[in-house]
Amino acid sequence: TRLRVWVSQPLFGDIVGRLREHFDVVETARVGKHSPQDIAHALAGCDGALVTLNDPIGAAEVANAPRLRAIANVGVGYNNLDVSALTAAGVVVTNTPDVLTETTADFGFALMMAAARRITEAERWLRDGQWRQWSFETLLGSDLHGATLGILGMGRIGQGIARRASGFRMRVRYHNRSRLPADVERDCRAEYVDLDTLLSSADHLVLVLPYSPAVHHLIDATALAKMKPTATLTNIARGGIVDEDALAEALASGRLAAAGLDVYEGEPAVNPRLLALRNVVLTPHIASGSLATRRAMVTLAVDNLIAALGHGPDAGRPPTPVNADALAARDAK
Ligand code: GLV
Ligand code: GLV
Repeated sequence: TRLRVWVSQPLFGDIVGRLREHFDVVETARVGKHSPQDIAHALAGCDGALVTLNDPIGAAEVANAPRLRAIANVGVGYNNLDVSALTAAGVVVTNTPDVLTETTADFGFALMMAAARRITEAERWLRDGQWRQWSFETLLGSDLHGATLGILGMGRIGQGIARRASGFRMRVRYHNRSRLPADVERDCRAEYVDLDTLLSSADHLVLVLPYSPAVHHLIDATALAKMKPTATLTNIARGGIVDEDALAEALASGRLAAAGLDVYEGEPAVNPRLLALRNVVLTPHIASGSLATRRAMVTLAVDNLIAALGHGPDAGRPPTPVNADALAARDAK
């Protein structure tokens, strides 16, 4: 009998269709957040699942899914998944690193530039009919070239942003849980500093660190108070890293010049205090959203799921597992 997999939302049909060569596929007709009960129900009879950041899955969701062996997340961040609970349940988890690195770094840079140079604010102003006369002091922003870029979280995406910054002749500083090897630092032209130094010296600070409870509201009122009032803050990581009320307060009071946000703690809901501000650029979690990269992410997730369930050319060896230990434990059985 064929294995069964659940696809939690419509994804490129021509790519996801490859799953049908190996498995019975339970598709989902519409995009949306499923309730925990619906997720548990969908997983109950399945051997595998292709899911996105819309789908929180932990012990409760897999409790009645004895056959479940693999969850392929379409995304590099996987804080929607309780990996230790899934490992304990013998479920292999995979994500989609690498394929989105450069596209996401492009977007982080674009969002930072939009915040620094007030691009979306300027466009709204023009469309509102406020441009009656050219004036020398309209909508003045701050420079990227020659400025100090602070990168918090120096994984693949952070390094991609650093490499872009040298073309802008920025000075690059970073903070990370662990310091990069010297050759990588040299390649990125990036200098390691402690968190306080990063906060206080950055003209533009970009957040690219993975979310975990340990970094919940890492950027709170105290951290924001350490930043330069002329600085910008850009977040392409996860919303929960920033205390949004504290950020809104800093932006409203002039404690911080501008921000660019692609992620939100309660997304798709956006803090109304942020929506009311003109000096914040708000985008709907699209940093990896070029057509080519979104297709590459789904392709990698499909490859992972097929391999994790023991099919295809990489049977048993999914290309990008998150919990290789679950794989080893399962194979040892
Ligand atoms: C999107 O945020 C991702 O983690 O890929
Ligand atoms: C995160 O995993 C990154 O690639 O920076």
